[in-house]
Amino acid sequence: MSEWVEVAKVEAISIGHPVHIEIDGTAIAVFKLEQDFYAIEDVCTHDGGTLTGGCVENDQIICPRHGARFSIRTGEALTAPAYEPTATFPVRIKNGMVQVKDDRWD
Ligand code: FES
Repeated sequence: MSEWVEVAKVEAISIGHPVHIEIDGTAIAVFKLEQDFYAIEDVCTHDGGTLTGGCVENDQIICPRHGARFSIRTGEALTAPAYEPTATFPVRIKNGMVQVKDDRWD
């Protein structure tokens, strides 16, 4: 069973500036949108590019390699050349810290 992992203080993650974290070898990007936080796998399903480093537009991240757009809320691939979603992960706030966990194998 996976454990919650602390990513950063709530105030350290700002809109448009995702934080990258590795949990057991999985690359995860944590975003702030309005007042909520979201986590998706930091891997583009087109060709494995790292999504953080790409531009954030509203609730989308644009892969810096070939421009595929992903929903930050759902991980859905919104434009070519990516067609498969990237994974999403649960996020919670505890004691002023943003926490995430990889629950895919629970
Ligand atoms: S690796 Fe992301 S669009 Fe190609």
